Amino acid sequence: MQAFNVLSEKFNTFFNVTHFPEQPESLYEPNNYFLQQTGKKIRPVMCIMGNELFDELHPDIWQVAAAIELFHNFTLVHDDIMDNAPLRRGRDTIFKKYGTNTAILSGDVMLIKAYKYLSQIDTHYLPAILQTFNTCARQVCEGQQMDMDFETVPAVGLDEYINMIALKTSVLLAASLKMGAILGNAGERNQNHLYEFGKNLGIAFQVQDDYLDVFGDATKTGKQKGGDILSNKKTFLQIHAFENASASQLQQLKHFYSTTGQNDEKVAMVTEIFTACGSDVWTKELAVRYYNKALQHLDDVVVISSRKQALKELADMLLQREY
Ligand code: IPE
Ligand code: IPE
Ligand code: MG
Ligand code: MG
Ligand code: MG
Repeated sequence: MQAFNVLSEKFNTFFNVTHFPEQPESLYEPNNYFLQQTGKKIRPVMCIMGNELFDELHPDIWQVAAAIELFHNFTLVHDDIMDNAPLRRGRDTIFKKYGTNTAILSGDVMLIKAYKYLSQIDTHYLPAILQTFNTCARQVCEGQQMDMDFETVPAVGLDEYINMIALKTSVLLAASLKMGAILGNAGERNQNHLYEFGKNLGIAFQVQDDYLDVFGDATKTGKQKGGDILSNKKTFLQIHAFENASASQLQQLKHFYSTTGQNDEKVAMVTEIFTACGSDVWTKELAVRYYNKALQHLDDVVVISSRKQALKELADMLLQREY
């Protein structure tokens, strides 16, 4: 199987085209602006690897991978509205730069384009691919709604939180692998193990995302440092700190999480409490636990182990990522 860098380069050759017409410029220019600042392309590469694990690349894999990347970008454009996030990939978010209404439509049109790519694939595979894609898309919406609902709930348990991030984040990684496996004619059992590999890896991925939001280098993440703290998000760090804080730390946390608005002091103080509670260390360990669970499922996929190497390397890369 080809390595991440090789596959992301090949995907970029297919994907780095103009996906949208020129007019109206006020709608499509924001899309081009957003897509120009490229992300890591984890999901389309997972889709391609899911195919290559079982078979030679199917010619339709590029369309499916493009649909996945467009869907992902659509979720980010709308997510930034929901999270009131000013920065994404080191630049102004669409809604900050062009307004919320344009960002809504701009995201919508990315989603529509995603379906356009899917509609181009071999009809033999289309029902299974659509079923996987649609289920995943619905689940992402459910997870995103729960993520927002959690902002105003006083406390969320770890299990409940993991259920939410499985929906908002993990299912897309899992479904990307599965759609690749479908095009690779994998059997159902193998598809399911690969899906579970992606789901657990997706949880580890979001653990790291929550960690980087607070402890990452903003010049690398390209996002506002402490954005989750400012919008009173439940996160792995937040949940651990609330459960392990001393009485006075808990009082401070409760105070900060009841305020709204942009406030550097809030980020600094909450970060300090997270560190004092060991929430940073615990979060890192949790990511490793989910990474290990993921690898068990990859082990259970029945193909010769040398074919799994690229997916193992990808999992390692995601665990260590700084952006
Ligand atoms: C960000 O995903 C959204 C989450 C699910 C945490 P990525 O970190 O993969 O975003 P890009 O595409 O590389 O910018
Ligand atoms: C985003 O989760 C999940 C989706 C976009 C569906 P986050 O809100 O944590 O992602 P970032 O940190 O803004 O990239
Ligand atoms: Mg966000
Ligand atoms: Mg969000
Ligand atoms: Mg985040």
